[in-house]
Amino acid sequence: MTDRYAVIGHPVAHSLSPRIHAAFAAATRQDLCYELLPAPPDAFAATAAAFFAAGGAGLNVTVPFKEEAAGWVDELDGAARQAGAVNTIVRRGTRFAGYNTDGPGLVQDLTANCGVALTGARVLLVGAGGAARGVVGPLLAERPERLVIANRTAERARALAEAARPSSRGSALEGGGFDSLGGAFDLIVNATSAGLDGDVPPIPAALVRGAVCYDMLYDRSGRAAETAFCRWAAAAGAARTLDGLGMLVEQAALAFELWRDVRPATGPVLEWLRRGADGGVRA
Ligand code: ATR
Repeated sequence: MTDRYAVIGHPVAHSLSPRIHAAFAAATRQDLCYELLPAPPDAFAATAAAFFAAGGAGLNVTVPFKEEAAGWVDELDGAARQAGAVNTIVRRGTRFAGYNTDGPGLVQDLTANCGVALTGARVLLVGAGGAARGVVGPLLAERPERLVIANRTAERARALAEAARPSSRGSALEGGGFDSLGGAFDLIVNATSAGLDGDVPPIPAALVRGAVCYDMLYDRSGRAAETAFCRWAAAAGAARTLDGLGMLVEQAALAFELWRDVRPATGPVLEWLRRGADGGVRA
């Protein structure tokens, strides 16, 4: 029987995940289907339970349900616990395990696809919401020299840095507002949602000069470097600008592997989306 998977969210209509997973399934000859599962904002638990009761094999979870999903599953893997959020649910008999492949997907895209070294790097993470929280642990696991978290609401960045302190090992870790930002950075990751309104977080342009700038958002066209942050960073003298489409494909590949025990190749799917992606702005 064909195994059923889906992405649950509100809204999900523009998600690229069905196309990505269909491409992975075709390439790896896996017998599965992957659907959109829209849920009203107050009905995550009921919708997920009904999907699994009808025989569903696994779910991806997207906005705004990732935190609620972390409370719904029976067990959490390390990345999901640290993020306080789940983007992948794996059914194991009658139990449900929650994973978070967003942070590992970002790290994989940066290091394997884009050739950006994280070990020993000076990294600025901009934002302190759910998207930022999901990537702090996996970034620290790469042992950067320094990880600074900067956010419009400085207190949220300080709290996120404090919560991550036990995983910081040898990395210098700080959190604060934009005013107090100083030093130089090799990599700047935009994890704010400012770009959804066409805005750019107010980081000093001087910090951007010569840095690799990565936006966790991506443009609906699929064209690289067309997000508001990438355009702004390029104009401010960034060494390179990268958008989040590769992260989207990598987090999907990690979810696919958790479900199917097969690791799909991501390069061809990313190239295919670059030629014609037309929807969705975040995994
Ligand atoms: P997400 O799940 O997308 O991270 P979130 O948890 O609501 O969503 O967090 C949004 C993040 O984007 C926050 O870091 C927010 O800053 P505040 O904590 O100060 O609200 C940031 N953000 C949103 N719009 C922004 C803007 N116009 N300029 C700077 N930061 C912005």
